[in-house]
Amino acid sequence: MKSDKEELTVAPDGRPQEEQPKWRTDFPIDWPEDHYVARRDFTKFMVLTSLAFTVGQGWIVLQNFFRKRRGELPVQRLAAVEQIPVGGSLVFHYPDEANPCVLVRRTETAFVAFGQECTHLACAVVPQPERNCFHCPCHEGYFDLSSGQPLAGPPRRPLPRIKLEFRQGEIYATGMEGKSV
Ligand code: FES
Repeated sequence: MKSDKEELTVAPDGRPQEEQPKWRTDFPIDWPEDHYVARRDFTKFMVLTSLAFTVGQGWIVLQNFFRKRRGELPVQRLAAVEQIPVGGSLVFHYPDEANPCVLVRRTETAFVAFGQECTHLACAVVPQPERNCFHCPCHEGYFDLSSGQPLAGPPRRPLPRIKLEFRQGEIYATGMEGKSV
């Protein structure tokens, strides 16, 4: 680490680096030491970030465990906010693989999510944000994009709504209204 003499300075008291006070080590003036501190801080940062992520995931697993015991639906991460452009959508399954759902970003700040099965005969509805509706191609059914209420065609019941929560730029499904699972 101290091989290049040109990059090293001698401390004013002339004592070797090992005998210098801690503040000199934490705020080095030599390039090799400075790089070492930068690497050390980066490693510390990575370890703390990983730890925070693991604690966050553990917290969600614990929450889901207690929710299950209370008969509630799980908390499920869907995506980061910036992953869905305005007018974009994401198909996911909630609360289990048997229930397809669709998340739609209507505006910069408005997201909605509904079960994707048409309430007529369970075909998959397709979001059409530009027309503010979901379209069911099987029998020309239409649902309102913001409320899930039927607008036209054979469907009479609204689409089940997925409850959403936002935590630190991430979107989570936390429950479902209008359907018993
Ligand atoms: S299944 Fe959607 S309108 Fe019939």
